[in-house]
Amino acid sequence: MQFKNITLFVILFSFWGYSQQSAHQIIPKPVKIIDKTGSFTLDSKVRINAVKELTNEKDYLTGLLNKGFKTDMAVQPLNHQPSINLIINPDISNKEGYTLEITPEKIEISGKTPTGVFYGIQSLRQLLPVRFEVEKSFDKVQLPAVFIEDYPRYVYRGMHLDVGRHLFPLDFIKKYIDLIALHKMNTFHWHLTEDQGWRLEIKKYPKLTEVGAFRKETLVGHGATKKKNRKFDGKPYGGFYTQEEAKEIVAYAAKRHITLIPEIELPGHSVAAIAAYPWLGNTGKQLDVGTRWGVYEQIYAPTERTFKFLEDVLTEVMEIFPSKFIHIGGDEAPKKEWENSKYAQELIKKEGLKDEHELQSYFIQRIEKFLNKHGRNIIGWDEILEGGLAPNATVMSWRGIKGGIEAAKQHHNVIMTPGSHCYFDHYQVPENERNNVPLAIGGYLPLKKVYSYEPTPEELAPEQQKYILGAQGNVWTEYMKTPDYVEYMILPRMTALSEVVWSQKNHRNWNDFEKRLNTLVKRFEAQGLIYARHGLKK
Ligand code: ACM
Repeated sequence: MQFKNITLFVILFSFWGYSQQSAHQIIPKPVKIIDKTGSFTLDSKVRINAVKELTNEKDYLTGLLNKGFKTDMAVQPLNHQPSINLIINPDISNKEGYTLEITPEKIEISGKTPTGVFYGIQSLRQLLPVRFEVEKSFDKVQLPAVFIEDYPRYVYRGMHLDVGRHLFPLDFIKKYIDLIALHKMNTFHWHLTEDQGWRLEIKKYPKLTEVGAFRKETLVGHGATKKKNRKFDGKPYGGFYTQEEAKEIVAYAAKRHITLIPEIELPGHSVAAIAAYPWLGNTGKQLDVGTRWGVYEQIYAPTERTFKFLEDVLTEVMEIFPSKFIHIGGDEAPKKEWENSKYAQELIKKEGLKDEHELQSYFIQRIEKFLNKHGRNIIGWDEILEGGLAPNATVMSWRGIKGGIEAAKQHHNVIMTPGSHCYFDHYQVPENERNNVPLAIGGYLPLKKVYSYEPTPEELAPEQQKYILGAQGNVWTEYMKTPDYVEYMILPRMTALSEVVWSQKNHRNWNDFEKRLNTLVKRFEAQGLIYARHGLKK
């Protein structure tokens, strides 16, 4: 049913007129664009020159151009042909910065690093006709001469995806990563474990996926439905990613200069793991993998056996994910079970802790020490501030920005993901217009509000502001059962966020963004992507 509604939007609005391409239609908006005279004729005989260090970028660009040109890019083009030059230029100061110069003789993309060159290619990509990537029919493309200089405002530009509540095929995960790359974002936060499903193969603990990856049924309707009125669909649901598949995703993302940050939730959101191994819990009771939405009171017991389990799991996680950061969750861990657990209470006494919040802090600090010993750092949701922050932790501020401000004041790095501006599971239309849109968790986050977001809080002094690494869009999937629904919820809100985290603050201009977005959504449309029209110009 949800599907139909989305499809209707796309069909209804896909007949809006096409506007002319212009060199200025790039999102996120570059730092500087200077129009020049003349144009470059791009065809498949053009030679792509690149040093060995840029082989990946050259291959990516070749693949991109082969999608549109009737004949593939020439394998051995002649020397005298006009060329695309991919260049490493140490004089560019930003590690992710680039310049893109188009003259009648050449296209030159320079970066301080291959990452910068990759972003230059992403900008070039947005100068090609909107149907270029889906229609292998072009003989040549005329590109107006231009000089672009560009670099990001924030070092962390992320998108999150919850695959615990619903999981998505590998092909969609790759598509998601491609969207992250198109938007010059650099981090994919993969939320892999939940109450309702454990999604990553762990060889030492096979039941995590044999048992923990499958639930017997799923709640129908909204999670806030009163217990007595709850209905379930009676259909088993589940699946997981093998380590080989996860490695394939890591490699796919790396080629697109995207870091994968895996999240292994602790001590809460762990019902699926406890269902697989009841000794991980505080009561020893056999649980079912979660079938409803909302917070569960079952959390990990703080025993040595649990710590050994988590260290073993994280050891395998580190072998798959080379990322400096590992996300350890830390949110929504009710303390009731620890209050009632003799073991937890004795541990509190033995360690001289004040209460269950300090016990959570102890729990997280032990995990942090383990990961630090292996050269990794933790990220946790802002609840990790309660009971004392682990010494090297980065805080992801989701319950508003207060946690982020507090962490920055304590000289900890911060990633901003406040529900008010970064939760793409929230509705895109106001309450009185929700009859014709698919069910969502709640909230109201229109496109324009995402665009208005300022990740660096004014109340921080300049020396504290440097701890704000950037921002991220969060995609919790209780109600998003299919890739189409995910696309509808992220497009174009992630597009707005991409400009928030990449573009200069003084370049933020809604009217200008709206115009450029009009072109980008035509590209989405050409590629068969589902996107929401709610916040767009009619
Ligand atoms: C969260 O949304 N529970 C981090």
